[in-house]
Amino acid sequence: MLLTELNTPCYIIRAGEFEENMARFRAAFASRWGEKLLLGYSVKTNNFPWLLKTAMERGFWAEVVSPDEYDFALRCGCPEEKILFNGPQKQDRLLSACRAGATVNLDNLEEVEAVCAAFGGGDFQPRLGLRVNFDLEALCPGETTCQGVPGRFGLCLENGDFARALEKLQGAGLPLAGLHLHQSSKSRSLKIFAAIAETAVKLAGEYGLTALDYVDMGGGFFGGSFFPGKPGFEEYAETVCAILKTAFDPTRTTLVLEPGAAVLATSMDYLCSVLNIREVRGQRIVTLDGSLLHINPMMNPHPTPFTMLNPGAEGGADQIVAGSTCMELDRFWPRDMHNLAGHETQFLFHACGAYMSTHNSSFINAAPNIYLERGGDYTLLRKKSLDALLRVE
Ligand SMILES: Cc1ncc(COP(=O)(O)O)c(C=O)c1O
Repeated sequence: MLLTELNTPCYIIRAGEFEENMARFRAAFASRWGEKLLLGYSVKTNNFPWLLKTAMERGFWAEVVSPDEYDFALRCGCPEEKILFNGPQKQDRLLSACRAGATVNLDNLEEVEAVCAAFGGGDFQPRLGLRVNFDLEALCPGETTCQGVPGRFGLCLENGDFARALEKLQGAGLPLAGLHLHQSSKSRSLKIFAAIAETAVKLAGEYGLTALDYVDMGGGFFGGSFFPGKPGFEEYAETVCAILKTAFDPTRTTLVLEPGAAVLATSMDYLCSVLNIREVRGQRIVTLDGSLLHINPMMNPHPTPFTMLNPGAEGGADQIVAGSTCMELDRFWPRDMHNLAGHETQFLFHACGAYMSTHNSSFINAAPNIYLERGGDYTLLRKKSLDALLRVE
Protein backbone atom coordinates (compact mmCIF):
# COMPACT_ATOMS: atom_id res chain seq x y z
CA MET A 1 0.00 0.00 0.00
CA LEU A 2 1.21 3.54 -0.76
CA LEU A 3 0.94 6.71 1.30
CA THR A 4 -1.71 8.09 -1.08
CA GLU A 5 -3.87 4.99 -0.56
CA LEU A 6 -4.24 5.35 3.21
CA ASN A 7 -7.66 6.03 4.69
CA THR A 8 -7.42 9.35 6.48
CA PRO A 9 -7.30 10.52 9.15
CA CYS A 10 -4.71 8.05 10.31
CA TYR A 11 -1.62 7.62 12.39
CA ILE A 12 1.46 6.18 10.74
CA ILE A 13 4.02 4.37 12.86
CA ARG A 14 7.50 4.77 11.35
CA ALA A 15 9.10 1.44 12.25
CA GLY A 16 12.58 2.55 11.22
CA GLU A 17 12.52 5.74 13.28
CA PHE A 18 11.23 3.89 16.37
CA GLU A 19 13.89 1.20 16.12
CA GLU A 20 16.61 3.76 15.52
CA ASN A 21 15.49 5.91 18.47
CA MET A 22 15.58 2.89 20.78
CA ALA A 23 19.00 1.81 19.51
CA ARG A 24 20.51 5.30 19.75
CA PHE A 25 19.12 5.85 23.25
CA ARG A 26 20.51 2.54 24.47
CA ALA A 27 23.91 3.10 22.83
CA ALA A 28 24.33 6.56 24.36
CA PHE A 29 23.88 5.24 27.90
CA ALA A 30 25.52 1.83 27.39
CA SER A 31 28.74 3.45 26.15
CA ARG A 32 28.99 5.40 29.41
CA TRP A 33 27.41 3.14 32.03
CA GLY A 34 28.14 -0.27 30.59
CA GLU A 35 26.15 -3.48 30.59
CA LYS A 36 24.08 -2.89 33.70
CA LEU A 37 21.52 -0.83 31.87
CA LEU A 38 17.78 -1.50 31.84
CA LEU A 39 15.27 0.32 29.66
CA GLY A 40 11.56 0.37 30.45
CA TYR A 41 8.98 1.06 27.73
CA SER A 42 6.60 3.70 29.11
CA VAL A 43 3.17 2.23 28.32
CA LYS A 44 1.33 5.46 29.15
CA THR A 45 3.27 7.36 26.48
CA ASN A 46 1.86 5.12 23.75
CA ASN A 47 -0.17 2.02 24.52
CA PHE A 48 -0.32 0.60 21.02
CA PRO A 49 0.56 -3.12 21.40
CA TRP A 50 2.88 -3.33 18.38
CA LEU A 51 5.12 -0.68 19.93
CA LEU A 52 5.42 -2.41 23.30
CA LYS A 53 6.01 -5.78 21.67
CA THR A 54 8.67 -4.35 19.38
CA ALA A 55 10.37 -2.66 22.33
CA MET A 56 10.30 -5.95 24.28
CA GLU A 57 11.94 -7.73 21.34
CA ARG A 58 14.76 -5.21 21.75
CA GLY A 59 15.19 -5.94 25.43
CA PHE A 60 12.91 -3.32 26.96
CA TRP A 61 10.83 -4.16 30.03
CA ALA A 62 7.31 -2.73 30.42
CA GLU A 63 6.95 0.33 32.66
CA VAL A 64 3.35 0.57 33.91
CA VAL A 65 1.47 2.85 36.31
CA SER A 66 -1.91 1.20 36.88
CA PRO A 67 -3.44 -2.26 37.24
CA ASP A 68 -4.91 -1.81 33.73
CA GLU A 69 -1.51 -1.03 32.23
CA TYR A 70 -0.13 -4.00 34.16
CA ASP A 71 -2.73 -6.30 32.56
CA PHE A 72 -2.08 -4.72 29.18
CA ALA A 73 1.62 -5.57 29.48
CA LEU A 74 0.77 -9.16 30.44
CA ARG A 75 -1.57 -9.49 27.47
CA CYS A 76 1.21 -8.23 25.21
CA GLY A 77 3.28 -11.16 26.44
CA CYS A 78 5.44 -9.41 29.02
CA PRO A 79 6.56 -11.73 31.84
CA GLU A 80 5.78 -10.29 35.29
CA GLU A 81 9.42 -10.30 36.29
CA LYS A 82 10.03 -7.84 33.44
CA ILE A 83 7.50 -5.29 34.67
CA LEU A 84 8.47 -2.02 36.37
CA PHE A 85 5.40 -1.13 38.44
CA ASN A 86 5.20 2.57 39.29
CA GLY A 87 2.59 5.15 40.15
CA PRO A 88 0.14 6.02 42.92
CA GLN A 89 -2.64 3.53 42.14
CA LYS A 90 -1.35 -0.01 42.33
CA GLN A 91 -4.51 -1.13 44.14
CA ASP A 92 -4.90 -4.90 44.57
CA ARG A 93 -2.01 -5.47 42.18
CA LEU A 94 0.53 -4.18 44.70
CA LEU A 95 1.02 -7.43 46.59
CA SER A 96 0.40 -9.83 43.71
CA ALA A 97 2.97 -7.98 41.58
CA CYS A 98 5.48 -8.27 44.42
CA ARG A 99 4.79 -12.00 44.70
CA ALA A 100 5.13 -12.47 40.94
CA GLY A 101 8.60 -10.92 40.87
CA ALA A 102 7.82 -7.54 39.33
CA THR A 103 10.00 -4.58 40.29
CA VAL A 104 7.70 -2.43 42.41
CA ASN A 105 8.56 1.20 43.13
CA LEU A 106 6.58 2.15 46.23
CA ASP A 107 4.93 5.53 45.95
CA ASN A 108 3.65 6.38 49.44
CA LEU A 109 3.80 5.29 53.08
CA GLU A 110 0.57 3.29 52.80
CA GLU A 111 2.14 1.10 50.12
CA VAL A 112 5.26 0.71 52.26
CA GLU A 113 3.14 -0.38 55.24
CA ALA A 114 1.16 -2.83 53.10
CA VAL A 115 4.27 -4.62 51.80
CA CYS A 116 5.83 -4.66 55.27
CA ALA A 117 2.66 -6.24 56.69
CA ALA A 118 2.50 -8.82 53.88
CA PHE A 119 6.16 -9.81 53.57
CA GLY A 120 7.91 -8.55 56.71
CA GLY A 121 9.90 -11.21 58.55
CA GLY A 122 9.10 -13.82 55.90
CA ASP A 123 11.34 -15.79 53.56
CA PHE A 124 10.18 -14.07 50.39
CA GLN A 125 11.81 -10.76 49.53
CA PRO A 126 10.05 -8.66 46.89
CA ARG A 127 12.06 -6.42 44.59
CA LEU A 128 11.24 -2.99 45.99
CA GLY A 129 12.21 0.57 45.20
CA LEU A 130 11.16 3.87 46.72
CA ARG A 131 9.91 6.74 44.57
CA VAL A 132 11.54 9.92 45.83
CA ASN A 133 9.62 13.18 46.03
CA PHE A 134 11.98 16.14 46.31
CA ASP A 135 11.74 19.84 45.53
CA LEU A 136 13.06 19.89 41.97
CA GLU A 137 11.46 23.29 41.37
CA ALA A 138 13.75 24.78 44.05
CA LEU A 139 16.77 23.38 42.18
CA CYS A 140 15.55 24.32 38.69
CA PRO A 141 13.25 27.33 39.07
CA GLY A 142 10.63 27.69 36.36
CA GLU A 143 11.49 24.39 34.69
CA THR A 144 9.17 21.89 36.33
CA THR A 145 5.49 21.17 35.75
CA CYS A 146 4.70 22.03 39.37
CA GLN A 147 5.14 25.68 40.21
CA GLY A 148 3.72 26.97 43.47
CA VAL A 149 2.35 23.54 44.34
CA PRO A 150 4.30 20.45 45.39
CA GLY A 151 4.65 17.46 43.06
CA ARG A 152 2.25 14.67 44.00
CA PHE A 153 4.27 11.51 43.54
CA GLY A 154 6.58 9.61 45.81
CA LEU A 155 7.83 9.86 49.38
CA CYS A 156 8.65 13.37 50.48
CA LEU A 157 12.28 13.90 51.46
CA GLU A 158 11.78 17.19 53.23
CA ASN A 159 9.05 16.04 55.68
CA GLY A 160 10.86 12.82 56.63
CA ASP A 161 8.52 10.36 54.84
CA PHE A 162 11.37 8.95 52.77
CA ALA A 163 13.41 8.26 55.93
CA ARG A 164 10.34 6.76 57.61
CA ALA A 165 9.78 4.46 54.63
CA LEU A 166 13.39 3.26 54.81
CA GLU A 167 13.05 2.57 58.53
CA LYS A 168 9.85 0.62 58.02
CA LEU A 169 11.41 -1.57 55.35
CA GLN A 170 14.48 -2.12 57.49
CA GLY A 171 12.33 -2.95 60.52
CA ALA A 172 10.45 -5.55 58.46
CA GLY A 173 13.68 -7.06 57.14
CA LEU A 174 12.90 -6.06 53.56
CA PRO A 175 15.93 -4.82 51.61
CA LEU A 176 15.64 -1.74 49.43
CA ALA A 177 16.56 -2.65 45.86
CA GLY A 178 16.40 0.76 44.25
CA LEU A 179 15.50 4.42 44.05
CA HIS A 180 12.99 5.76 41.56
CA LEU A 181 13.49 9.41 40.72
CA HIS A 182 11.24 10.15 37.71
CA GLN A 183 10.25 13.82 37.46
CA SER A 184 8.29 15.47 34.67
CA SER A 185 9.54 18.86 33.56
CA LYS A 186 8.61 21.51 31.03
CA SER A 187 12.19 22.07 29.94
CA ARG A 188 13.53 18.47 29.79
CA SER A 189 16.89 20.22 30.24
CA LEU A 190 20.30 18.85 31.19
CA LYS A 191 20.03 20.91 34.38
CA ILE A 192 16.93 18.91 35.36
CA PHE A 193 18.73 15.60 34.85
CA ALA A 194 21.82 16.85 36.68
CA ALA A 195 19.61 17.82 39.63
CA ILE A 196 17.91 14.41 39.68
CA ALA A 197 21.22 12.54 39.50
CA GLU A 198 22.71 14.76 42.22
CA THR A 199 19.74 13.97 44.44
CA ALA A 200 20.41 10.24 43.98
CA VAL A 201 24.06 10.81 44.92
CA LYS A 202 23.06 12.84 47.98
CA LEU A 203 20.67 10.12 49.17
CA ALA A 204 23.29 7.44 48.63
CA GLY A 205 25.63 9.36 50.95
CA GLU A 206 23.07 10.31 53.60
CA TYR A 207 21.39 6.94 53.90
CA GLY A 208 24.22 4.56 53.00
CA LEU A 209 22.61 3.47 49.71
CA THR A 210 25.65 3.24 47.44
CA ALA A 211 25.25 -0.53 46.93
CA LEU A 212 21.70 -0.42 45.55
CA ASP A 213 20.65 -2.88 42.84
CA TYR A 214 19.29 -0.06 40.71
CA VAL A 215 18.85 3.67 40.31
CA ASP A 216 15.86 4.51 38.13
CA MET A 217 16.07 7.95 36.53
CA GLY A 218 12.59 7.63 34.93
CA GLY A 219 11.77 9.34 31.64
CA GLY A 220 11.30 12.92 30.55
CA PHE A 221 14.00 13.15 27.86
CA PHE A 222 13.66 14.88 24.50
CA GLY A 223 14.36 12.75 21.48
CA GLY A 224 14.14 12.10 17.78
CA SER A 225 14.87 14.38 14.89
CA PHE A 226 12.34 17.22 15.22
CA PHE A 227 13.64 19.05 18.26
CA PRO A 228 16.58 21.16 17.07
CA GLY A 229 18.42 22.99 19.82
CA LYS A 230 17.29 20.53 22.51
CA PRO A 231 19.64 18.14 24.33
CA GLY A 232 20.45 14.91 22.50
CA PHE A 233 20.75 11.40 23.94
CA GLU A 234 24.55 11.68 24.19
CA GLU A 235 24.36 14.84 26.29
CA TYR A 236 21.75 13.36 28.63
CA ALA A 237 23.84 10.22 29.03
CA GLU A 238 27.02 12.17 29.67
CA THR A 239 25.35 14.35 32.33
CA VAL A 240 23.55 11.53 34.15
CA CYS A 241 26.32 8.93 34.09
CA ALA A 242 29.12 11.29 35.14
CA ILE A 243 27.18 12.38 38.23
CA LEU A 244 25.84 8.95 39.23
CA LYS A 245 29.32 7.45 38.95
CA THR A 246 30.48 9.64 41.84
CA ALA A 247 28.38 7.48 44.20
CA PHE A 248 27.36 4.29 42.38
CA ASP A 249 29.47 1.57 40.81
CA PRO A 250 28.27 0.80 37.26
CA THR A 251 29.45 -2.80 37.61
CA ARG A 252 27.15 -3.26 40.60
CA THR A 253 24.19 -0.88 40.26
CA THR A 254 21.87 -1.08 37.25
CA LEU A 255 20.91 2.22 35.68
CA VAL A 256 17.21 2.09 34.83
CA LEU A 257 15.71 4.53 32.33
CA GLU A 258 12.07 4.83 31.26
CA PRO A 259 12.17 6.84 28.04
CA GLY A 260 8.71 7.52 26.63
CA ALA A 261 8.64 10.61 24.42
CA ALA A 262 12.36 10.23 23.67
CA VAL A 263 11.81 7.06 21.65
CA LEU A 264 8.16 7.49 20.68
CA ALA A 265 7.45 11.11 19.76
CA THR A 266 9.07 11.07 16.34
CA SER A 267 8.03 7.49 15.64
CA MET A 268 4.51 8.42 14.57
CA ASP A 269 3.01 10.79 11.98
CA TYR A 270 -0.62 11.79 11.52
CA LEU A 271 -2.15 12.24 8.09
CA CYS A 272 -5.29 14.24 7.23
CA SER A 273 -7.01 15.17 3.99
CA VAL A 274 -8.89 18.33 3.08
CA LEU A 275 -12.67 17.98 3.32
CA ASN A 276 -13.80 21.42 2.21
CA ILE A 277 -12.64 25.02 1.83
CA ARG A 278 -14.69 28.13 2.55
CA GLU A 279 -14.30 31.85 2.99
CA VAL A 280 -15.83 33.68 5.96
CA ARG A 281 -15.62 37.47 6.10
CA GLY A 282 -12.36 37.51 4.23
CA GLN A 283 -10.82 34.54 6.06
CA ARG A 284 -10.05 31.34 4.19
CA ILE A 285 -10.90 28.25 6.25
CA VAL A 286 -9.70 24.78 5.29
CA THR A 287 -11.45 21.92 7.12
CA LEU A 288 -9.57 18.63 7.41
CA ASP A 289 -11.00 15.18 8.11
CA GLY A 290 -8.86 14.78 11.26
CA SER A 291 -8.91 16.69 14.52
CA LEU A 292 -6.51 18.65 16.67
CA LEU A 293 -7.70 16.34 19.47
CA HIS A 294 -5.79 13.50 17.81
CA ILE A 295 -2.40 15.22 17.96
CA ASN A 296 -2.80 17.75 20.76
CA PRO A 297 -5.42 16.32 23.11
CA MET A 298 -4.93 19.05 25.75
CA MET A 299 -5.31 21.65 22.98
CA ASN A 300 -2.19 23.49 24.10
CA PRO A 301 -1.38 26.42 21.81
CA HIS A 302 1.78 24.96 20.34
CA PRO A 303 2.61 24.20 16.71
CA THR A 304 3.20 20.69 15.44
CA PRO A 305 5.79 20.21 12.67
CA PHE A 306 4.12 19.24 9.41
CA THR A 307 4.58 18.66 5.69
CA MET A 308 1.98 19.54 3.07
CA LEU A 309 1.51 16.84 0.43
CA ASN A 310 0.19 18.06 -2.93
CA PRO A 311 0.44 21.64 -1.71
CA GLY A 312 -1.65 24.21 -3.51
CA ALA A 313 -0.47 27.50 -4.96
CA GLU A 314 2.52 29.21 -3.35
CA GLY A 315 2.01 32.55 -1.69
CA GLY A 316 1.16 34.10 1.65
CA ALA A 317 -0.90 31.26 3.03
CA ASP A 318 -3.34 33.10 5.24
CA GLN A 319 -5.72 30.29 6.10
CA ILE A 320 -7.17 28.62 9.14
CA VAL A 321 -6.57 24.88 9.08
CA ALA A 322 -9.34 23.35 11.13
CA GLY A 323 -10.35 19.91 12.34
CA SER A 324 -13.57 18.09 11.59
CA THR A 325 -15.28 18.23 14.99
CA CYS A 326 -17.93 20.79 15.94
CA MET A 327 -15.65 22.51 18.44
CA GLU A 328 -14.65 26.02 17.39
CA LEU A 329 -11.30 25.43 19.07
CA ASP A 330 -10.55 22.48 16.82
CA ARG A 331 -7.95 24.40 14.81
CA PHE A 332 -4.50 23.11 14.05
CA TRP A 333 -1.56 25.38 14.71
CA PRO A 334 0.56 24.94 11.62
CA ARG A 335 3.23 27.60 11.24
CA ASP A 336 5.23 28.71 8.21
CA MET A 337 2.65 27.63 5.68
CA HIS A 338 3.92 28.67 2.30
CA ASN A 339 1.08 27.22 0.26
CA LEU A 340 -2.66 27.58 0.10
CA ALA A 341 -4.19 24.16 0.61
CA GLY A 342 -6.24 22.78 -2.27
CA HIS A 343 -8.77 19.97 -2.31
CA GLU A 344 -6.05 17.42 -3.12
CA THR A 345 -3.75 18.61 -0.34
CA GLN A 346 -2.94 16.41 2.62
CA PHE A 347 -1.32 17.48 5.89
CA LEU A 348 1.24 15.11 7.34
CA PHE A 349 1.88 16.12 10.96
CA HIS A 350 5.10 14.84 12.54
CA ALA A 351 6.19 13.90 16.05
CA CYS A 352 2.75 12.55 16.99
CA GLY A 353 3.84 9.41 18.84
CA ALA A 354 3.78 10.52 22.48
CA TYR A 355 0.60 11.10 24.53
CA MET A 356 -1.58 11.53 21.43
CA SER A 357 -3.24 8.32 20.18
CA THR A 358 -3.22 7.20 23.83
CA HIS A 359 -5.81 9.91 24.55
CA ASN A 360 -8.13 8.98 21.67
CA SER A 361 -11.77 8.92 22.61
CA SER A 362 -14.82 8.36 20.43
CA PHE A 363 -15.82 12.02 20.68
CA ILE A 364 -17.57 12.79 17.36
CA ASN A 365 -15.08 10.60 15.45
CA ALA A 366 -13.97 7.08 16.26
CA ALA A 367 -10.24 6.77 16.91
CA PRO A 368 -8.29 6.91 13.63
CA ASN A 369 -6.75 4.02 11.72
CA ILE A 370 -3.18 3.14 12.60
CA TYR A 371 -0.80 2.05 9.84
CA LEU A 372 2.72 0.75 10.06
CA GLU A 373 5.27 2.04 7.58
CA ARG A 374 8.40 0.05 6.89
CA GLY A 375 10.64 0.78 3.93
CA GLY A 376 7.95 2.89 2.22
CA ASP A 377 5.32 0.16 2.45
CA TYR A 378 2.19 0.67 4.57
CA THR A 379 0.17 -1.96 6.45
CA LEU A 380 -3.06 -1.38 8.38
CA LEU A 381 -2.56 -2.40 12.01
CA ARG A 382 -5.72 -1.02 13.64
CA LYS A 383 -8.91 -0.21 11.78
CA LYS A 384 -11.06 2.69 12.85
CA SER A 385 -14.09 1.16 14.55
CA LEU A 386 -17.23 1.97 16.52
CA ASP A 387 -16.91 -1.23 18.55
CA ALA A 388 -15.78 0.51 21.73
CA LEU A 389 -18.92 2.69 21.62
CA LEU A 390 -21.40 -0.03 20.80
CA ARG A 391 -20.21 -2.78 23.12
CA VAL A 392 -22.68 -3.60 25.91
CA GLU A 393 -21.76 -6.15 28.57
C1 LIG B 1 7.10 7.07 36.06
C2 LIG B 1 7.23 7.54 34.66
N1 LIG B 1 8.19 7.02 33.88
C3 LIG B 1 8.36 7.40 32.60
C4 LIG B 1 7.55 8.37 32.04
C5 LIG B 1 7.78 8.74 30.60
O1 LIG B 1 8.01 10.09 30.45
P1 LIG B 1 8.36 10.70 29.00
O2 LIG B 1 7.31 10.19 28.05
O3 LIG B 1 8.28 12.16 29.21
O4 LIG B 1 9.72 10.20 28.66
C6 LIG B 1 6.54 8.96 32.82
C7 LIG B 1 5.67 10.01 32.28
O5 LIG B 1 4.92 10.67 32.93
C8 LIG B 1 6.37 8.53 34.17
O6 LIG B 1 5.41 9.04 34.96
